Amino acid sequence: MTYQEAKTLLKEHGQEHLLAYYEELSEEGKAKLLKAIEELDWSFEDALANPVDMTGAGRDIRPIGGLSLAEIEKNREKYEAVGVQAIKEGKVAAVLLAGGMGTRLGVDGPKGAYDIGLTKPLYIFEQQMKNLQEVVEKCGVYPPLYIMTSDKNHDATTSFWQEHGYFGYPATLVKFFKQDMAPAVDFDGKIFLETKDMPALSPNGNGGWFSSMKRAGLVDDLHEKGVEWLNIYAVDNVLQRIVDPAFVGASILAGVNCGAKVISKNDPYEKVGVLCLDGERPDIIEYYELTDAMANEKTEDGEYAYRFGVIMNYLFRLSQLEKIADQRIPVHIVKKKIERLCEDGETRKPDVENGKKFETLVVDLIKPMGSVLPFEVVREKEFAPIKNKTGVDSVESARELLKRNGVIL
Ligand code: UTP
Repeated sequence: MTYQEAKTLLKEHGQEHLLAYYEELSEEGKAKLLKAIEELDWSFEDALANPVDMTGAGRDIRPIGGLSLAEIEKNREKYEAVGVQAIKEGKVAAVLLAGGMGTRLGVDGPKGAYDIGLTKPLYIFEQQMKNLQEVVEKCGVYPPLYIMTSDKNHDATTSFWQEHGYFGYPATLVKFFKQDMAPAVDFDGKIFLETKDMPALSPNGNGGWFSSMKRAGLVDDLHEKGVEWLNIYAVDNVLQRIVDPAFVGASILAGVNCGAKVISKNDPYEKVGVLCLDGERPDIIEYYELTDAMANEKTEDGEYAYRFGVIMNYLFRLSQLEKIADQRIPVHIVKKKIERLCEDGETRKPDVENGKKFETLVVDLIKPMGSVLPFEVVREKEFAPIKNKTGVDSVESARELLKRNGVIL
């Protein structure tokens, strides 16, 4: 793209300020900026013009049935046998979503490279791979593993895995792919410059993982390997059970397109999104959308009807993902503290929110998947999220849970 072309394009979008420092740049800087402008994803304009309706109005919300802990225990052997068979046949792959910025944890590098050890190093990635190793031992095969990164952490992530010998996993079965980036804008919708030669871009949320995987040519790889199910999981849960045979088997037997690991809410007002139905289709209802009556509604078994909180561990049927690949999912607008070029020419992050980022969410894929099986797990055994340094969902709370599960830190 030439300077003139960039100028015309930016004028059309009201973003000409991105060229404000063009004349000051080196030839290399000029080329970098023009390339970045050419690649800008303009879908944020539609997101700003038609924001996602967060009120939940117009939906026909009802409770969804799922597998409770007791039911799973009763049928565990059956579920595991089916799951182990599918895993042995190479039908299940794992996909780690690790493209996030980990802003709340306040780390510069990849969140998974965070050392949670006390007496010896224990990285988040490493702990998760120990959990996967148990499945490898049980099934006698290594499920293929795909790892989503972003421009911000790709090189650091791949070299970290290399330096640590892929945590004992066969390197040929670990494949990395980058997610797409979206511009970050101020409250007037103007794209920030991060430096004089680069607009401010940030990972576009975890909902675009399948399209990014496809663009990277990895869906062909899945077909070559005969994969039918993808187990998506988040980097921040150190008790994450990956490719859990019982979960796989139960989802296959239920004939659903999607399985979701869930935990029962602590109390009817806990601030987590829960699985539900919207008419006949699966959906999520956020805690602020639940009325008092819904929060306290009980099933025939005396359980809360809206209790299945999601923990970002899903099984997706590949054939259905391919069917819905062209459907658009909502783009959410999130207020954040955005690092930007200041008037003194320095790049700094402000102390208060100064703009908006645009993100799609994996949870918005559940509806288009058409059917979901909530699969309950024991919170204390499978859910130790690390979002913050201290306090709730922090390094401290996760360490405590790891210790309770016998992990030596
Ligand atoms: P979070 O929503 O906690 O976001 O991600 P984050 O970026 O890691 O952390 P904060 O909000 O900046 O503190 C949940 C999961 O989704 C992944 C994360 O890596 C994590 O596994 N994710 C998030 C992506 O892969 N891409 C994204 O753009 C955002």
